[in-house]
Amino acid sequence: MNDTEALKYAAAAKALEFVEPGMKLGLGSGSTSAAFVELLGMKVRDGLNVICTATSNDITQKARSLGIALAPLADLAPLDLAVDGADEADPALDLIKGGGGALTREKIVEAAAERLIVIADERKWVKHLGRFPLPVEVVEFSHPVTRMHIAKTATAFGYGDIPIALRHKNGAPFKTDNGNLIYDCTFGEITDVPALADALSCLPGVVEHGLFVGMAEALVLARAGGVEVIKPVR
Ligand code: 5RP
Repeated sequence: MNDTEALKYAAAAKALEFVEPGMKLGLGSGSTSAAFVELLGMKVRDGLNVICTATSNDITQKARSLGIALAPLADLAPLDLAVDGADEADPALDLIKGGGGALTREKIVEAAAERLIVIADERKWVKHLGRFPLPVEVVEFSHPVTRMHIAKTATAFGYGDIPIALRHKNGAPFKTDNGNLIYDCTFGEITDVPALADALSCLPGVVEHGLFVGMAEALVLARAGGVEVIKPVR
């Protein structure tokens, strides 16, 4: 295991302390969430009783293979707790998510949870969101027109003519678990996160974007020097 992987497991192990018997849990997606699911699976094997819902097909498969009980979100909501990774987190604990493409299901699941705990290694901690390209999930129909709306919004908000790239995987456009496409939008430093989030949400053709505003209760941040639980400064 390399250093970054070890930090992911360290954050995931700390987040397990938030889990209590009988809880209804939301499982995030990505490699840090996968580490959490692995450790949760060990607890379940030792007798922990929880029921979970997953934010992607990958994590559903992983949780199932580890013997973790799963149910649809609609049968479980409201959830007691969701645990998920992030691509960036700022001091307000606003997040960029969706590097793995699961942003829409993550937002639906996490908005249905009483508490969201974010787990991350130190690379994800930033002063300002926006260096990581913001994923925006769009319907396939006429998606270049949706791209045009995103570009106009970026210009109107003063970010200029930003790079907006259709995500590809294995030489073809990447499809989300919902059958949609993703545009990765490099805004640079995002100066007003809630305003941009609201504007993107209103665009025709946009299904969801990866700005998670005011949702996280705490960030479990693993650094080389140790693991810290960070509360939002709002
Ligand atoms: C997936 C996500 C992930 O949480 C995010 O991309 C972080 O992934 P990783 O833990 O692999 O760095 O939002 O849609």
